[in-house]
This record gives sequence, structure tokens and C-alpha cells, in this order.
Amino acid sequence: MNRLQGKIVGITGGSAGFGRAMALAFAREGAAAVAICDLNMEDAAATVKDLEEIGTKTLAVELDVTDTAGLRAYVQQIIDTFGRLDVWVGNAGIAGGAPAEDETEEFWRKMIDLDLNAVFFGAQAAGRHMLEQGGGVILSTASMLIEQHTQAYRTAYGVAKTGVVNLTRALAVEWGGRGIRVNAIGPGFANTGLFQRGRTEHSIPVEDLLSRVPMGRFVEVEEIAAAAVFLASDEASFINGHLLLVDGGWSANSSPT
Ligand code: NAI
Repeated sequence: MNRLQGKIVGITGGSAGFGRAMALAFAREGAAAVAICDLNMEDAAATVKDLEEIGTKTLAVELDVTDTAGLRAYVQQIIDTFGRLDVWVGNAGIAGGAPAEDETEEFWRKMIDLDLNAVFFGAQAAGRHMLEQGGGVILSTASMLIEQHTQAYRTAYGVAKTGVVNLTRALAVEWGGRGIRVNAIGPGFANTGLFQRGRTEHSIPVEDLLSRVPMGRFVEVEEIAAAAVFLASDEASFINGHLLLVDGGWSANSSPT
């Protein structure tokens, strides 16, 4: 299918995991260009190669998204290179945490800066251009660990991701009348590098995590990418301010495991 024919897409954290899967899915759906930024340029090179094989133009920028000036420059570079920006995905993030009494100020601030502040400043930079060009789509990668659904040892993470859902709604309200749709995706547990790196002595055993998922497994990165393609496409033309949970029913499950 060509649901994103000719679109110009910018993604943060596009080298690996969900971001990489989204980049490839957007390209397969006909996007004219898919830009990625990331800290990890080795993985970025592999993603660029795969994007080029699909036949999409690409741009890969080394960037720590908590560098707000750099983030704005990345958005500008996409526009300077490809002429416009149709779809923006604020996806780069980390997970993890510790018992609240042991949480360090450094980790708390890093989490809020990366998983929340950078999502807002990226959306703001993209949104400014989309307002000028007359429309666009903004997506963010939140989590299923939001609002009333949280977990022990994930205080900062839950606060950041809940903030992402709330800013999604706020931007949708402000910009919906000016041609921009703003939505978020709430993935379930995925066995990505992030998940594996985030395993600590405080982590809940994998079998216990998955036992609460009615479908009994991790989400595949391609399933998150499919949700992103749908939300970015005209099929979702009246979906605005929405959190699309892709969690196999985890959030719906309040039965004891
Ligand atoms: P991942 O670690 O596989 O991929 C994330 C990418 O973002 C990596 O390429 C990494 O280098 C990049 N990145 C990290 N910090 C960055 C920074 N400061 N600046 C630029 N790039 C940076 O992780 P995954 O699992 O694909 O996660 C993507 C998003 O999904 C994150 O926001 C995460 O919180 C969220 N998420 C992940 C879940 C999981 O179980 N894996 C579940 C729910 C949400």
C-alpha cells in the first residue's frame, strides 16, 4: 500500500527499536523521505542502508534530543533538505528506574528531560513549521505505563510518559483546527535494546510481566510501526488527541495474575 505516498517524515531515535521499524514502515508506504536522528550512528547507518534499499531518500543526524537547539536545527535541516515536514515522530526515549527512595536526582532529571521535555520541544519545532505549511501529523511514543496504570520503580518514567499523553491532548486541542493532528502510541513491553538494557535487580521477572498481558507476549516492533503508519495516514483523518494503546490488552486487565 502507499498510505504515505510522497510524505516527508522526521523521527527521533530512528536507529533502533520502534523508531527504526517506523522508519522502514513509512518508507514501504511510499514516504518520499524519512529522516532519523539518534545518538547511535552505527545503528543509524544500517537503518539508512535499509531505507535506501526501499528507495526512500534519507537523512541521518547525530543528535542528543535533549539538546533543544540541536533538535530545532534537525527539524530545520529536514525542511531545508526536503522542502517540508509532513509527519513528525517524537520517539527517542529511555526506560528504567529504582525504588523511589533511591532514585537519584540525576536519573530523575535525565528521564524528564529526554522522555518528556524533548518530546514537547520536538513537537513544538515541527508544529511551528506545520502551522506555516498548513498541516501535518505529530506522533509521540508514550507507553502503557501512564496515569492509573503504573508500576513500582517507574516513578520518573510514568510521570514523563503521562506528560506525553497530556501534551498530546493539549497540542491536539490547540492545533486541530489548523490542520495538525496530534496523537500518541502506548506500546506494551517490547523486547528491544531499551527493554534489555533496562533490566536491573529491581526489574519484575519477564514471565510475571508477560503473565499480565492477555495475549501473553511482547509486542513486536512492527506492530508499533503499523499503528504509527495508521495514525500518520489519512485513514486516521479524524483521530486527534488520542492515545492508541498497543499492549495486547495489558491496560484492560485488572485481574490478579
Ligand atoms: P531502543 O533503545 O531500542 O531505541 C531507542 C532509540 O533512541 C535508540 O536508537 C537510541 O540510541 C535512541 N536514543 C536514546 N536516547 C537518545 C537521545 N538522548 N537522543 C537521541 N536518540 C536517543 O528503544 P525502544 O524500545 O524502541 O523505545 C523507543 C520508545 O518507546 C522510547 O520512548 C521508550 O520509552 C518507548 N517504550 C518502549 C517500550 C519497550 O518495552 N521497549 C514500552 C513502551 C514505550
